[in-house]
Amino acid sequence: MIVRYTALCPMVFGDGAINGVGEEVKALGCTRVLLLSDTITARQPAYATCQNSLLNVGIEVVEYPNCLPDPPDHIVIEASKLANAEKVDGLVAFGGGSVIDTAKAVKVLMNNPLPMAQYYGNYNYKPGVPLTAIPTTAGTGSETTRYAVISDSQLVQKKSFYVHADLGILDPEITASMPPQVTASTGMDAFSHSAEALTSQTANPHSDLLGSDSIRRIVQYLPLAVADGANHQARREMMIASNFAGSAFNDAPTHLGHSIAQTLGAHQHVTHGVACALALPEVMVFAAGIVPEKVRMIGEAMGLSIPRDADNQAIGAQVAKAIRTFMKGIQIPSLKALGLSREDTVKVAPYVFNEASMLRVPDGVSLTEAQMESILGAVYDNYQ
Ligand SMILES: [Fe+2]
Repeated sequence: MIVRYTALCPMVFGDGAINGVGEEVKALGCTRVLLLSDTITARQPAYATCQNSLLNVGIEVVEYPNCLPDPPDHIVIEASKLANAEKVDGLVAFGGGSVIDTAKAVKVLMNNPLPMAQYYGNYNYKPGVPLTAIPTTAGTGSETTRYAVISDSQLVQKKSFYVHADLGILDPEITASMPPQVTASTGMDAFSHSAEALTSQTANPHSDLLGSDSIRRIVQYLPLAVADGANHQARREMMIASNFAGSAFNDAPTHLGHSIAQTLGAHQHVTHGVACALALPEVMVFAAGIVPEKVRMIGEAMGLSIPRDADNQAIGAQVAKAIRTFMKGIQIPSLKALGLSREDTVKVAPYVFNEASMLRVPDGVSLTEAQMESILGAVYDNYQ
């Protein structure tokens, strides 16, 4: 079998890496950049450090601090227009996945006419200016992925551009101020990226390695990062884990879990990382029927010892149970605790099939709507 290993974007990793952003962006040939952030990240001390580092090497900075969660199309268009009007020759994204995805979308739209829908899921556009991504959370892996997910207001759906950053600056110190809830949910997003990558139709040895390693780090260090945000080693390990998980799903895209999570996000406003976490145990039960050796690999990366003679169902059940216990430990809320009824949850079943990631469910098993309702019911019932 011929497989393709993806290595899209170089990374600079380490404490204090943010101080060198000016030199790095200059080396990309940029002289005037649009610095994208949101109202929260723009207030972080590291934002000022980033801005000063750029200014100190003579790079002009135009600020756009208005990025929003689940990047709405109107924000992406507004930022693109500003980038064009200001004639910037570079983009710098300082924030979580939403800020980085907005910047990636700007990279597509700056040099290409609207409407934006013509660029969803393809590379049929003129390349944009260099983009430097500086994540302030550890979870989305957007700095390393080939996707920018935005919210299309007309379709009422998440849509993806195929676009990647040109450089990532990973400075774990920046993530130290993330509150426990955000640390937990973004960390579980990374966990689900890895677990879905491992069980993806197009998993390869490279994505398996990155996915397993990332799960090992998350299981050991996410509870420590949630319990004590200042735990330096935990923050470092989670930043690596998130980055590796993102690289894993470049080759081995997410599938059933993210389809469910995106739908629960769009229809019931469940936070992405929480929705991914809640779907994950049932996705493992499902995947164990198709790729049990991969679900076993996930369990072993979690430190479980799974009996040699365990059948598919037993493997799925053991790994799912361990994930639920892990989620409880970091206080991932249940759907009930979020105010949803079982009916609210099950009724989104038909919409899950509209998600592009459903096409990548392992081994092309075609789920029926009744089966999807049963999976969603189990997501609700089995984690209280
Ligand atoms: Fe995700």
